[in-house]
Amino acid sequence: MDKYLLAAAERLTTREPEKYQQLSVQPLTPVIGAEVSGLDLSKELTAEQLAEVKHAFLTYHVLVFRDQILTVEDHKRFAGYFGELRRRQLSELDDGDPAVLEISADKDSSFVDGNDWHTDGTADAEPSLGSMLYVTRTPEIGSGGDTMFANMHLAYELLSPHMQNFLDGLTAVHDGLIPWQGYQPPPEYVVPKSEHPVVVRHPDTGRKLLFVNPGFTSHIVQLSSIESRALLDLLFGLVPNKPLLSCRVRWTPNTLVFWDNRCTQHHAIWDYYPHARYGQRVSINGTRPTA
Ligand code: SIN
Repeated sequence: MDKYLLAAAERLTTREPEKYQQLSVQPLTPVIGAEVSGLDLSKELTAEQLAEVKHAFLTYHVLVFRDQILTVEDHKRFAGYFGELRRRQLSELDDGDPAVLEISADKDSSFVDGNDWHTDGTADAEPSLGSMLYVTRTPEIGSGGDTMFANMHLAYELLSPHMQNFLDGLTAVHDGLIPWQGYQPPPEYVVPKSEHPVVVRHPDTGRKLLFVNPGFTSHIVQLSSIESRALLDLLFGLVPNKPLLSCRVRWTPNTLVFWDNRCTQHHAIWDYYPHARYGQRVSINGTRPTA
């Protein structure tokens, strides 16, 4: 085994088991994701429950809550415990709830949101803290439409110290036009574009992570274009080439998943065409990433 991988594996297997009084937490893999049970999200949470959810969120980065019957107001209330709700892009062009993004695919779809590795909204100066997707319809064939999530702390920790030092001083541009490649955005779309450090610290834990993603990152500012392309290809390849960085969530109807956009990437797998899948996503405002 690679020595950096071995060191990370040792850290993970020697960590103390988590103790929860208000909920039950079942890890999905040793490195990312957990199923949380014992909570009814249609009800207000007590301070003790919320403190444990927050602790689990910072520990596992992706939390899965199954068998939740939620109204839009319940969904937004739960998201509101973690910060201000994010206004969806172009929400002024329709009369839907500005905080709720519909994620929907069926036999007429030619495109599905999130069908590649990315982190939500990193082209914004203050990218989202996290997103909560509540899926109510899963493909009628009984499988497909899973979402994968990757731990970007661990992606950074698996790099050699020389590579980590090199990346530590760099910044990258995140460009809101990248997701539109092959499509024409509406004229009202104000294209977000921001420069963020390549390595940032999680604002709540201080732990470092790799903050570039193929969904939005266009280039590394301090390098020539050929160097930038080669380095980004290497960094983008870490997640698909190292399956141990990720977990895979298999959706069942009425599942809500809450993920931390500050330290994960995700990929919604569109493997169920022509079947249908439907969910609603609410996101939470975050802060400017810092090195
Ligand atoms: C997304 O937020 O990228 C969509 C995730 C999903 O549909 O599972």
